[in-house]
Amino acid sequence: MCIAPTLRLAPSILSADFARLGDEVRLIEAAGADLVHFDVMDNHYVPNLTIGPLVCQAIRPHVTIPIDVHLMVDPVDAMIAMFAKAGANIITFHPEASRHVDRSLSMIRELGCKAGLVLNPASSVEWLDHVMDKLDIILLMSVNPGFGGQKFIPHTLAKLRTVRQKIDTHQTAGGQPIWLEVDGGVNTDNIGQIVQAGADTCVAGSAIFGSADANGGYRTVMQALRCAAR
Ligand code: DX5
Ligand code: ZN
Repeated sequence: MCIAPTLRLAPSILSADFARLGDEVRLIEAAGADLVHFDVMDNHYVPNLTIGPLVCQAIRPHVTIPIDVHLMVDPVDAMIAMFAKAGANIITFHPEASRHVDRSLSMIRELGCKAGLVLNPASSVEWLDHVMDKLDIILLMSVNPGFGGQKFIPHTLAKLRTVRQKIDTHQTAGGQPIWLEVDGGVNTDNIGQIVQAGADTCVAGSAIFGSADANGGYRTVMQALRCAAR
């Protein structure tokens, strides 16, 4: 048994069987998932269309772990309110998709959720600098958002180290804790390097939902990810 105590695993249900979503989220919780990663796409900010607040509300009673809503929508504010009402616990959005980033972050917290910014592979880490005190989580995209099953972009490792340093400096100066999450192309081959570079929370979609056990559960692959992350 491998223990990676600080690592949070967030299976992305984008790669789950949508026809049996209640079962799928129960299975990942039983397999030790720390969060349900919930990808919201609007065919405007990204070239794909997925699931909305009604689906969040529908899965809420099936799990006790937090639901981590990743908004890939433009604009964001109306969706923040709807997802908070639908039972989301964490809400992250892309700064380019909000006219008023500081206000959107405050709105998430006022509605009782943890708030975060998501940076695309080519987005600058400077987006973080003036809102560090409003962040509970920073999500670095390691693929361009819009689709599951893409290849991890290696430059993310350097960016992770930079952001890890920013977070550590912030906390040393008395700031609040901030999680550092990575999303896209995470698998057993690269999760070790990703964690080494400073991530404490890893999203994985196709790597988990594409590797069901013989009984349909996900314990083996989740355990393999934790072992590889050590
Ligand atoms: C991509 C999504 C990801 C995606 C990850 O836009 O934000 O969460 O589901 O899927 P994998 O792990 O297959 O790259
Ligand atoms: Zn995502």
